[in-house]
Amino acid sequence: MQTKLRRRHFLKNGLAAGGAMVLLKGLPGRGAESAVQKGSMNETLKTIHNLRTIHGNFNDKSIPESLIQEILHASVQAANASNMQSYSIVVVKDRETMQAVCGYRGSCMFVYCVDHTRHHASSAHLGHAYRSDSIVSFVTAGMDTMLAAQTAVIAARSMGIDSLLTNGLHRGDMERVWKILNLPEQFCFPMIALVLGYPTEEPAVDKGRLGGVGIVHEATYHHPTPEELDAITSQYDNPDNHLALNPDWSQQGFTHYQDWLYSAWLGSRTGPPTEETPMFRLLKRAGYVDLQH
Ligand SMILES: Cc1cc2nc3c(=O)[nH]c(=O)nc-3n(C[C@H](O)[C@H](O)[C@H](O)COP(=O)(O)O)c2cc1C
Repeated sequence: MQTKLRRRHFLKNGLAAGGAMVLLKGLPGRGAESAVQKGSMNETLKTIHNLRTIHGNFNDKSIPESLIQEILHASVQAANASNMQSYSIVVVKDRETMQAVCGYRGSCMFVYCVDHTRHHASSAHLGHAYRSDSIVSFVTAGMDTMLAAQTAVIAARSMGIDSLLTNGLHRGDMERVWKILNLPEQFCFPMIALVLGYPTEEPAVDKGRLGGVGIVHEATYHHPTPEELDAITSQYDNPDNHLALNPDWSQQGFTHYQDWLYSAWLGSRTGPPTEETPMFRLLKRAGYVDLQH
């Protein structure tokens, strides 16, 4: 695994944003030097700070089966509500299938699904009535699912294996994911795909992160002031912070990166949705949302 400490642009330095010192407030470790600042990270912190996404350019090298198993074993160690592990992980090794499911291909893909099917089967088997038909069940299982996925990301990186978390499975006709992976229609919902592998080339930069005002709130929630919002906008605009998804936003005629983000990238809808979205329909079919729960 790469041990070189790669600098995360955590926006701890307000000066980098043109004097927006306000962003120092609220950072973790405020008042005390963090391990990052002291340069004294332990191996776990180094792995976390070395996390990076490979945006699809994985090479053909395969991951040894023992390492895949190691990652899975680590993944399921994540905390989970009532120790019920209300998720399933579908392991896919066929690259065409990966492409069809999430739009990306690598050495291996784990599809993390919110899933209560196993609990329904066990409870019925034992003669119990068990229900998971509620938003609460979905949200709770969603937490389990994502924690397991992120734990896999960290485990993989600790072994020099790179990754891409993608919600590409929610793009286009989502039904294909159920069909291709033979997912149960009820009480199973594919949340995220984790593509694992080795990159064809190192990413050009480390993506930065906001870390101060607007992200971390001390004691109670703090709505950013107009000045703080300007400072955040400046942080995004500063190319040294590597916060932009599209580094060419300026050449494309946008005044601020966030102008590109909220218009060109996310698009603008003028009113609330007028009809059920495909995701809502599938969540309903899965049994997690209806009028009562
Ligand atoms: C829910 C989720 C969906 C994502 N979907 C995609 C995706 O479809 N394609 C992609 O290239 N990256 C995707 N990413 C990765 C993010 O773009 C990436 O984490 C972010 O730009 C920060 O970069 P870094 O992980 O290299 O620090 C996704 C990440 C998450 C958590």
